[in-house]
Amino acid sequence: MNLENLKIFAVKARRAVNMAALPVVAMVVVAVTLNYAISAFFLSDAEEKIKNILLSHRGLHQYIQKVMHPAFYKAREQGEISQDFYAPEIFSSSFVVRVDHGFYNEELKKAGLPEIYYKLASNNPRNPVNKADEFESSLIKMFNENSEISEFKKVVNIDGKKYLYFAIPFLETSNACIRCHGKREDAPQGLQALYPGQGGFNEKAGVYRAIESIRVPVSDEISTAFILTCSLSVGIIAMFMLFFFNRRLKRTVDKKTYSLEAEVVERKKKEDDLEKKNAELERFAYTVSHDLKSPIITIKGFTGALEKDLLKGNYERMAGDLKRVSDAADRMNDLLCDLLEISTVGRVVNTSEAVDMNLLVEDVLAQLEGPLRNSDIKVTVQSDLPPLFCDRQRMCEVVQNLVENAINYMGDQVDPHILFGVREESGVKVYFVQDNGIGIDEKYHENVFGLFNKLDAKSSGTGIGLALVKRIIEVHGGRVWVESDGVGKGSRFCFTVGRNF
Ligand code: HEC
Repeated sequence: MNLENLKIFAVKARRAVNMAALPVVAMVVVAVTLNYAISAFFLSDAEEKIKNILLSHRGLHQYIQKVMHPAFYKAREQGEISQDFYAPEIFSSSFVVRVDHGFYNEELKKAGLPEIYYKLASNNPRNPVNKADEFESSLIKMFNENSEISEFKKVVNIDGKKYLYFAIPFLETSNACIRCHGKREDAPQGLQALYPGQGGFNEKAGVYRAIESIRVPVSDEISTAFILTCSLSVGIIAMFMLFFFNRRLKRTVDKKTYSLEAEVVERKKKEDDLEKKNAELERFAYTVSHDLKSPIITIKGFTGALEKDLLKGNYERMAGDLKRVSDAADRMNDLLCDLLEISTVGRVVNTSEAVDMNLLVEDVLAQLEGPLRNSDIKVTVQSDLPPLFCDRQRMCEVVQNLVENAINYMGDQVDPHILFGVREESGVKVYFVQDNGIGIDEKYHENVFGLFNKLDAKSSGTGIGLALVKRIIEVHGGRVWVESDGVGKGSRFCFTVGRNF
């Protein structure tokens, strides 16, 4: 591979990458968006679950504050309970909620459901089980420093499993709280007895001393979201591919249909041509048998007459009879020769050459000098005729037949005149033989080229000349037609030769 090829290869590769880049980027964007949307749906579900749990905790807090405490204080006032009595199982809502959540997790376990981590995490816990871990500790700091932040949530990975982690600050420490969370010596006696050490004491009002830290497992949801994303993405890509494939297929089918339709049209044209040729052949067979019949009838009739004359010894008449028989035989011979000729034109074509039309026309006119002089016809040939690429011998026949035709149909013209010339029509050279003879009615313009179609039955010739011309010109890939202003106005026989000739 030389440098040039390498460059071309590089350009092609870059183009391929560029072309592939757009669908790939589009696919990635679609997949990422889908995954985000589906995950968000599942996560919002998990978040709702968390909030429900926290709300039910709050409900329990309320119950303890508003129902249990008043009932307890009433009993203490009435002397039913000792003034020093303190039990977190009754007094501390954080205790009750934690224990309650422990039971809840046990129930979840029994039901085969995943447990839900919950902690009222504090940096200075009274009960060591409430000790905040490093992360929770940092969140307590964050909530205290940024009062506008009311919650924190994040998908976290713990031991290979995914969880939605959620945290909100617990109640702000108020003066009422300070009674049990301020100086140790100020707290109720019973409490002091139960909780030795400084944990939970020395707190200040106006800060968050803890957060509610909770997390629910979302591994299943996230893998479901992933599977959904994958299948949806694959589905969308498949749909796109199907769409494009379908378009390409349609294009291919359309193309095929067009070509088939064109083929049908072509075939139909060929069929029509064949039909025309068949009809022509039929006419031909009919005309041939008809035309051959009349000399035969003549021969038959005159051989009968000859026989009679022979028996009678009428020798003078016999010479006449013989002449008629011989003439009829000659005519038959002419007809058969012409027929043979016309049938061979299609098959025998001499090699084409650049033919000097000036010379060719001159030759033909020399051959026809006799009949031309007899009819006293003046012939003009346009000078400098362009050469024609054709079969010379056949072209001679064409010109000869056209000039003969002009001679035969000259009529009683006082100043008979034939002109051989050429003109140009949209880049094609049109040669023509023009006369000022009897002319042709427009309705016969097609017919004149048919076999044995003589316009004037009395005229000489077999009537095959123009059919022969037509055949030769067609074999040359050209066209022949007649132009005439009508009867008595002369006619112009024009022909062209196809491009390949
Ligand atoms: C009557 C005493 C009392 C009052 C008033 C009180 N607490 Fe407590 N608090 C306790 C006890 C006892 C515990 C430890 C319970 C346990 O063993 O889990 C506790 C625990 C907590 C905890 C759990 C962390 C830890 O230290 O173990 C938080 C947070 C808390 N209290 C916040 C408050 C807030 C905020 C207020 C005011 C709105 C308040 N407390 C009022 C007695 C009290």
